[in-house]
Amino acid sequence: MNRLQKKVCLITGGARGLGLAAAEALLAEGAKVMITDLDRAEGEAVAKTLGANAVFQQQDVTRREQWGEVLDALIARWGRLDVLVNNAGVAGIADIESISAEDWARTIDVNLNGVYLGTQAAIARMKHSGGGAIVNIASIEGLIGEAGLPAYNASKGGVRLFSKSTAIHCARSGYGIRVNSVCPGFAETQMVSGALAALAPETAQMFAQKTLARIPMGRFARPAEIAAAVLFLASDESSYMTGSDLVVDGGMTA
Ligand SMILES: NC(=O)c1ccc[n+]([C@@H]2O[C@H](COP(=O)([O-])OP(=O)(O)OC[C@H]3O[C@@H](n4cnc5c(N)ncnc54)[C@H](O)[C@@H]3O)[C@@H](O)[C@H]2O)c1
Repeated sequence: MNRLQKKVCLITGGARGLGLAAAEALLAEGAKVMITDLDRAEGEAVAKTLGANAVFQQQDVTRREQWGEVLDALIARWGRLDVLVNNAGVAGIADIESISAEDWARTIDVNLNGVYLGTQAAIARMKHSGGGAIVNIASIEGLIGEAGLPAYNASKGGVRLFSKSTAIHCARSGYGIRVNSVCPGFAETQMVSGALAALAPETAQMFAQKTLARIPMGRFARPAEIAAAVLFLASDESSYMTGSDLVVDGGMTA
């Protein structure tokens, strides 16, 4: 109940999916949580269901000036920032021969540049207030390649190593800021169902079957199962972990 008592947290992309599940997990352990998202309608509606310790603010993680506004609003409300979960992300299926420059740039911008901007803005505030924990949502697609995901693979591989570099810098600087990433396998969210829906039905069915066959546990993750790893890395239970990437994938990459 109290694993995150009094911790003030920001979760990007929190209107649905893994971000929402992370918000629920942190709130259940006593945290105060600001969720942000591009989708204002969904974010505001969801925040109302999360109780008095949750609030929503609209944010595009790719916009540097919005990071300052969001973090300053959070600190004005609750006095400090303890945990940042860089969760917002996008994915689309197209191989290297067909991916457009726009899709490439958007994927890198949201998934990698957004994490850089958020991490930099958070460190500037956390380092003068006793430290904190930054949890970046990477993916098993940052560990292994997938023919249809060149931009997503590049962005998530980037998030993993960016997190390690940042973790070393923060530890050596004595900031008390830990930086880790979570590498989820396939989870039951709109990101996966939306990507499948964009394919022809037979292709989608074949992709889903082939993917399930690659997962030793034989099923996709429930969002709460990924949120449990986020909660652990956000809490003081992981006080000796920094620069790690925690794989939660039903054995898929084992
Ligand atoms: N679902 C999976 O199988 C899976 C696996 C590995 C990693 N991930 C990663 O987990 C994270 C969450 O994924 P999900 O499955 O919940 O996806 P989702 O599509 O269900 O939710 C993503 C949320 O991010 C928001 N968002 C997108 N662009 C944004 C931006 N520029 N600024 C702010 N918010 C933005 C969306 O509006 C949405 O609410 C992503 O980083 C994703 O890459 C997901």
